[in-house]
Amino acid sequence: MDLSIYDTMKALEEEARRCTSCVLSESRSQVVFSSGRLDAELIVVGEAPGASEDRDGTPFVGRSGVLLRRLILEVLGLDSGQYYVTNVVKCRPEGNRKPLAVEIGTCSHFLERQLEILKGGVILAVGEVAARTLTQQKISVGSMRGSVYTHGDKKVIVTYHPAYALRGGRAIEDSMRVDLGFVGGLLSER
Ligand code: URA
Repeated sequence: MDLSIYDTMKALEEEARRCTSCVLSESRSQVVFSSGRLDAELIVVGEAPGASEDRDGTPFVGRSGVLLRRLILEVLGLDSGQYYVTNVVKCRPEGNRKPLAVEIGTCSHFLERQLEILKGGVILAVGEVAARTLTQQKISVGSMRGSVYTHGDKKVIVTYHPAYALRGGRAIEDSMRVDLGFVGGLLSER
């Protein structure tokens, strides 16, 4: 791997770890920056860390994350080490509330810069916050599903948040499998 990518990302991560630009910095245990490979073809973007992620320092390690990672393994055959994972907002909103627009606006330059550094070509936007941030559409996840959006030089596929699948059951999980199938199609084109 190109070492300059590693160094540039490390510097960005350190900047995020020092960030106090919004109120979430006051209640976080730690900044949850990313996990996985910098040279991965697939980049997964979620909303914001929850309690488990705030404790662990890794995105998508709680119940939602276990489901998401299981579906990615099942449909794409990729384990956690084989793709890159991050969130739009890097610090946990207390009580697991949705991040506010001002918090998304303040934090999303970190995501933008991560995406500029990463070479992967396919983004899976997980849930409404990631989907709207990356596509700039103000429509529901349901309406965005099945379309290929672009963000810079990358293609974006939208899917439901796994927390919704945990509440909504099998049908939502099956829809996520379909979306991951689209991701698989894009990955195999590259
Ligand atoms: N939900 C998210 O959107 N991201 C995480 O990292 C954990 C839960």
